[in-house]
Amino acid sequence: MLDTEYLLCERVLFVDQLRIRGGLRVAGEISVHGAKNSSLPLLAATILGKSQSILHNCPRLSDVDAAVRILSYLGCPVERSGHTVWVDTSQLSHFDVPEELMREMRSSIVFLGAIAARLGKVKISFPGGCELGPRPIDLHLSSLRKLGLIIREDHGFLDCEVAGRLKGAVIPLSFPSVGATENILLAAATAEGVTQILNAAQEPEIADLADFLNACGAKISGAGKSTIFIEGVEELHGAEHEVIPDRIVSATYLCCAAATGGEILVRRACPETVAGVLPVLEQMGCRIYTGEKSIYLKAPERLKRIRTVRTMPYPGFPTDAQAPVMAAAALADGTSVFVENIFESRYKHVAELARMGADIKVEGKVAVVNGVKKLYGAGVEATDLRGGAALVVAGLAAEGETVVSQIQHIDRGYEQIEESLNSLGAHIQRVTEKAAEDQ
Ligand code: EPZ
Repeated sequence: MLDTEYLLCERVLFVDQLRIRGGLRVAGEISVHGAKNSSLPLLAATILGKSQSILHNCPRLSDVDAAVRILSYLGCPVERSGHTVWVDTSQLSHFDVPEELMREMRSSIVFLGAIAARLGKVKISFPGGCELGPRPIDLHLSSLRKLGLIIREDHGFLDCEVAGRLKGAVIPLSFPSVGATENILLAAATAEGVTQILNAAQEPEIADLADFLNACGAKISGAGKSTIFIEGVEELHGAEHEVIPDRIVSATYLCCAAATGGEILVRRACPETVAGVLPVLEQMGCRIYTGEKSIYLKAPERLKRIRTVRTMPYPGFPTDAQAPVMAAAALADGTSVFVENIFESRYKHVAELARMGADIKVEGKVAVVNGVKKLYGAGVEATDLRGGAALVVAGLAAEGETVVSQIQHIDRGYEQIEESLNSLGAHIQRVTEKAAEDQ
């Protein structure tokens, strides 16, 4: 009996999808939420404070939830109300992060520097690769070793310890890695002596992290430039901080308006942090005006091609905006060329865009986008966070209905994307479908 039942039963899965009605102009005003890529290192940084910290404008995202689960596991109670998060790290009781929590989110590697600095001992699993290709952490490890952390790599785990305090050092980075720069800041803030990071990442999230750490009593200068000085202090305390706006979400909203011949005012933004993207949208024919905390865009009837977009470390064109801008370029008049210089495999959205009628050829780092007059609604699959956002941009502009599945990728970095875009005239439904799967 049991066998028959077993053979006959189906494991019923429920999956969320976005049903997007195409052909509607995206127009109106919207406020952008706090930056995912700032919130994650900031949550790790609360570990250094040994007391309560408060983060305002912290976005409600699944990646943030994953970081909160790590903090809770480590013995740090986390409360949240709206976009404010309270973290009490006074009772930190664990130095290890279980593999299942590490694997939930690649960027959990940023907890390494913080736990090492606070406890002098860390055990975490090697974060796996991800949709963007292998995600090595060699720069993180070599930098932390320079600060005196003994790191043993053992069967996929990193067993780390240091006798006493970490020691300041001069750390030249062969590549301005965002995560490695963050890990060094977290580890060096309470190290003995001065640390100097050469060729540091200059992304705005670095300066945001340094601002928080300085509010906690750290002595960091130069964050946001390529050389950062950290004068180690004995102890840090908690602090209250407001997370900067999410520059990639801002860019994505702008692409939604650009691709649909729309008009948008993005509020609570930080225009200078989107400075690598705005000129590209202007070259595509958009009119753009910026205020202190706002970005206005009016799209042309039809976008013009963008000759070449090269992704670069900040302040260059950000790799995270490549997919959403490509979705807009897919409808432009003419041929656009994208060169992805940051990640090895960040064109997985191309095959999905092609299902909608896009004409894109990928050759290694280069994607050649021949603009077409129309895209057509189709069933497509989000492959990663920004690739998923690109499918939403394309779905808004396509003729007919687009159904995007695997939208858990999108929920990692965009708060209720359908509600935000529907407030701008889109028609997107989040539906839960039953996906039967045979045993
Ligand atoms: C951060 O990732 C962001 N994530 C990414 O955003 C963003 O695309 C990236 O910076 C670049 O701006 C978070 O902040 C959570 P990197 P990170 O270290 O820190 C190589 C999104 O969509 N590298 O600057 O991982 C690496 O393989 C995400 O929000 C090494 O070789 O980026 C990659 O090719 C995606 N060795 C390049 O450097 C290392 O030790 C950039 O990586 C570290 C990195």
